[in-house]
Amino acid sequence: MSEDKKTMPPTGEPTATRSTAPMWIIVVTLILLFVGGYYFDQHSGWFDAKVYAPYASAVTLEDYQPKSGEAAARARGKAVYESVCGICHGPDGLGKPGQAPALAGSEWVLTKGANRLAHIPLMGIAGPITVAGKDWNLNMAAMGAALPDDDLAAVLSYIRNSWGNQAGTITGDDIKKIRAAVGQNPQPMSADQLMKIPE
Ligand code: HEC
Repeated sequence: MSEDKKTMPPTGEPTATRSTAPMWIIVVTLILLFVGGYYFDQHSGWFDAKVYAPYASAVTLEDYQPKSGEAAARARGKAVYESVCGICHGPDGLGKPGQAPALAGSEWVLTKGANRLAHIPLMGIAGPITVAGKDWNLNMAAMGAALPDDDLAAVLSYIRNSWGNQAGTITGDDIKKIRAAVGQNPQPMSADQLMKIPE
């Protein structure tokens, strides 16, 4: 004990007694819990990683997504690209050595019309092919054959108008017609065969 304590006048020892918590503390605590819970519900996005400020919930985020028209088709095309084609052709459309050629700047993508290009994902492609001056000799299965017309149209429109590419968009009706002509039995085509198909 320090010297000071001894010289100080004695004070009453603190005592501890049991008493009931005042009602107002219980009420205030419950109100705080309720307000906190409400705030969490409104602002947290329930730990969804895709939801961050200024958006409060997955529902509000959904409301901001384009529902129709060009913007929606583009968003759809990007989503299909990233889940179906980007694995090989790269998120930047530049292709990957030994895996797939570039789509950016590719003469096979920047065709006048949809016809020849659509044959590639509908039929598959195999063997030697030159893409933007580079030679490849791999093969690609009919990666688009299982996609609905609108999704295939959206993804082809997307690759024709991304990474500096600029070409006309393709509609679901275009794909419907080409698919009908192609038939149900996709056989991988060679570059030579593709060149004979009108653009
Ligand atoms: C499993 C890997 C893989 C996936 C997935 C894939 N491709 Fe390919 N793609 C290739 C390969 C490999 C070639 C070159 C084939 C050859 O050498 O004959 C190619 C060639 C092409 C070509 C012609 C060449 C060029 O680069 O312009 C186009 C167009 C194309 N793919 C579009 C698509 C689209 C659209 C999708 C998605 C629907 C897709 N590919 C998905 C591997 C893939």
